[in-house]
Amino acid sequence: MKERLYIDGCWVEAEVYADLYSPFSNEKIAEIPQASLEQVDDAIRSAVKNKHEIAEMTTYERARILERLTVLLTEKRDEAATLIALESAKPLKTAYGEVDRTIETYKFSAEEAKRNVGEIIPMDAAKTGAGRFGYTQKEPIGVVGAITPFNFPMNLVAHKLGPAIAVGNSVILKPATQTPLSAFFIARLLEEAGLPKGVLNVVTGRGSLVGDRIVTSDNVNMITFTGSPEVGKEIIAKAGLKKVSLELGSNAGVIIEDAPDLQKVAHECVIGAYSNQGQVCISLQRIYVMEHLYDEFLEHFRSEAAKLVCGDPLKANTDVSSLISAKDLTRSMNWIEEAKQQGANVLAGGIIENNVLVPTILTNVATTSKVSCQEVFAPIVTITPIESIQEGIAQVNNSKYGLQAGIFTQNIHTAFEASKKLQVGGVMINDIPTYRVDQMPYGGVKESGNTKEGIKYAMEEMTETKLIVWNQN
Ligand code: SIN
Repeated sequence: MKERLYIDGCWVEAEVYADLYSPFSNEKIAEIPQASLEQVDDAIRSAVKNKHEIAEMTTYERARILERLTVLLTEKRDEAATLIALESAKPLKTAYGEVDRTIETYKFSAEEAKRNVGEIIPMDAAKTGAGRFGYTQKEPIGVVGAITPFNFPMNLVAHKLGPAIAVGNSVILKPATQTPLSAFFIARLLEEAGLPKGVLNVVTGRGSLVGDRIVTSDNVNMITFTGSPEVGKEIIAKAGLKKVSLELGSNAGVIIEDAPDLQKVAHECVIGAYSNQGQVCISLQRIYVMEHLYDEFLEHFRSEAAKLVCGDPLKANTDVSSLISAKDLTRSMNWIEEAKQQGANVLAGGIIENNVLVPTILTNVATTSKVSCQEVFAPIVTITPIESIQEGIAQVNNSKYGLQAGIFTQNIHTAFEASKKLQVGGVMINDIPTYRVDQMPYGGVKESGNTKEGIKYAMEEMTETKLIVWNQN
């Protein structure tokens, strides 16, 4: 399959193509156009030219396009899931979950579009405000540059496109180099759903060329990026005065103080740690268990992890497949080796079988080992005993990241203490940090980001609030 760029409503060829390979089988699956700088500029020009058309559409029309998209995507659910599994090695059953969430994300966008309202300001609450009537109205920010990651190639694109279209922005989308097919697939459906030409432009190629051109353009009003903190920092440095929304990574932790069913908790933790091979920004990476439960929890965790089926992402029963690249596999193995050198024990995994890193459990891990203090983005988890909740909270907070954290407890005071003291964007009580539904506010503190997504919250970011004041004196 030879893909094309989507610029100004036309599917155009590039001069240069790069082969795209399945991360699992290493077979060639597509040829991806590498946009030239002129083509990126064409895409930006198109978004500028067409921003008024989408801005001036009625809310009813914009919501209708998003609703039609959900119908089309539901009809093509099998094709969409297979595409995700093929290009990202996300196991098919997890890929179906992503498609269902994508449908919901666009549904929420269609609904939320109808609630994008300003507010009345009580002007006369100020001494000099008498006789003034004030209100705010929401206006689209203009042209949004969206740069999306490989780990949710369909739903994290939806978290940019859904809110942007809902509020009336035009978009230049640069999907992840490793997973562009899902983005082109959605662009075709949006075209079919009636999105006016040029409102969405999709350009692919190297981040350092295509991404940079979008980030540095004076004609782009906002960048919304999901990816690594390193790239996030580069974007901030290059973006100038335009608004930048960043959703970055983490090394999420959970504290297990107490639970009526420890096996169930272990099962949930296994899902949190190994789903999508641990390539989720809120993957459970660090587990802290009260000392008296530690051995029992470890045993449950080990036996739950051993049930996972590793292998071909296109097989219906596969739970864990390949990492996105050979480079990431090598990095993960190096990090495991470093942890071992620093005293860690490998209770399971730590080996590669059939191009899959077997789900790995590490204990006795130094806090300075990369598998603990960096974002591992691989099926590797550390399990550590703690003597008190305060120690658990301190351990979770001992991180440069702060996206989400979880705590299992039967004690309401502990739950409140943890919700207050955990330095993260979201605390999940009696749940893993890997929990997300798409309408909730989602975003981190520290190096995990500077904003919240979740449709309503992303819409806020993509909107200008204009104040209108009438003088009736
Ligand atoms: C992410 O990796 O940031 C997205 C997680 C999710 O949507 O579940």
